[in-house]
Amino acid sequence: MEMGIKGRVAVVTGSGRGIGAATVASLGREGCKIVVSDIDAHAAQETRDQLLRQGVEAIAVGCDVTSEDQVSHMVEEAVRAFGSLDILVNNAGFVRDGYLTRMSTEAWDSVVDTILKGAFLCSRAALPQMMAQKWGRIINISSRSLFGNPGQANYAAGKAGIIGFGRKPEPREKNMVNMMLVTAADHGLTPSALSARLTYLGAPESIQGAVAAGLLGAGSKFLGTIQNVTEMLMQEAAALHDDDADDVFYEHAKAMLRRFKEEKRVITGIGHPIHVDGDPRVPTLRQISEENGYFGKHWRLALAIPLVFKKEYGKVLPLNGAGGLGAVMADMNLDPMLGRGLILIGRSAGLVAHVMEERDSPTGQQVWDLVLTQDPRNVAPEKKQ
Ligand SMILES: NC(=O)c1ccc[n+]([C@@H]2O[C@H](COP(=O)([O-])OP(=O)(O)OC[C@H]3O[C@@H](n4cnc5c(N)ncnc54)[C@H](O)[C@@H]3O)[C@@H](O)[C@H]2O)c1
Repeated sequence: MEMGIKGRVAVVTGSGRGIGAATVASLGREGCKIVVSDIDAHAAQETRDQLLRQGVEAIAVGCDVTSEDQVSHMVEEAVRAFGSLDILVNNAGFVRDGYLTRMSTEAWDSVVDTILKGAFLCSRAALPQMMAQKWGRIINISSRSLFGNPGQANYAAGKAGIIGFGRKPEPREKNMVNMMLVTAADHGLTPSALSARLTYLGAPESIQGAVAAGLLGAGSKFLGTIQNVTEMLMQEAAALHDDDADDVFYEHAKAMLRRFKEEKRVITGIGHPIHVDGDPRVPTLRQISEENGYFGKHWRLALAIPLVFKKEYGKVLPLNGAGGLGAVMADMNLDPMLGRGLILIGRSAGLVAHVMEERDSPTGQQVWDLVLTQDPRNVAPEKKQ
């Protein structure tokens, strides 16, 4: 296969044998110059000799990928021999299986370190060269064991970790995160905007104080509720499936509401003080989730809850923005606490805009005056004509 990498310099860790040796053979056929690297220096030399016999330019470097010094040396040798380092394959890895209760710390460390620390050290050492030459590719070798395997807690953890280590977010994930950030930006005079504006009134020299004041109220009642909704939906939808029929979701929501009522627990993510007939953000959140493939069982349960409220209890309590965002978080299988974190990030941007506006057209003093006039105990001073 012609991959357009002729003349590129490729370093493959753990290429003394096995998949690594096969990889360098393929890259050699593509016309790459090869750095065969392995903790077993003798095996690395044998693989190099084989490449040389096939007419491939190659050197061998003994290198333990968990050693910072040896990794630096490997990169230096590649650049010294061939003038660049274009491709790095983080391949070194092995298994040391054992049931978790009987697994030694050494077995854990050696497997996880070789896979993860090795990839980190090699990538960190190789990247400056790749960035300087404005071209580079890093390939991390994972395994199907990333989904977990009995007796392979160490290997599975390493192979799952390496996915996150080298993974770029997909466009659809970026869309979803952007959507969450935009939804979290302040829309009008929310409690966080009020806190920020009033703090700015007292401390106009400190934009950070005003923004921080606005963020401090992101708790379990306001703004931070997305974390609670996500946790609730993840827990309650555990037994459901994305493609269950509508009535399954309805009956599940009905049972859930009954249980919450008995246990005097609050359902979060429904109702809105202003948008009593429906939070206008929710249909858009739903549409974007559907378009990006994140409309699953958590969304469906979240939407079934207001239906049950209406049909069974005669109450209009539509899903609100936090409810929709909680459904998004849960359908993306993200950590619920991250939901609160994302909201803080989005809200920060909104609050900065509020504080800028407060500077140009202040409302803080008016808000304070308004509060004072609402309380009959306060007698406002006569305004001078
Ligand atoms: N064999 C499989 O079925 C399979 C499946 C999925 C993924 N993988 C992965 O592919 C990669 C290669 O597997 P393989 O089957 O060829 O293994 P292998 O055991 O045949 O070869 C691994 C090589 O890595 C070297 N190595 C071990 N520790 C090292 C270290 N600290 N520094 C540098 N080199 C080190 C070994 O000396 C050996 O030459 C591994 O990351 C493995 O997890 C293998």
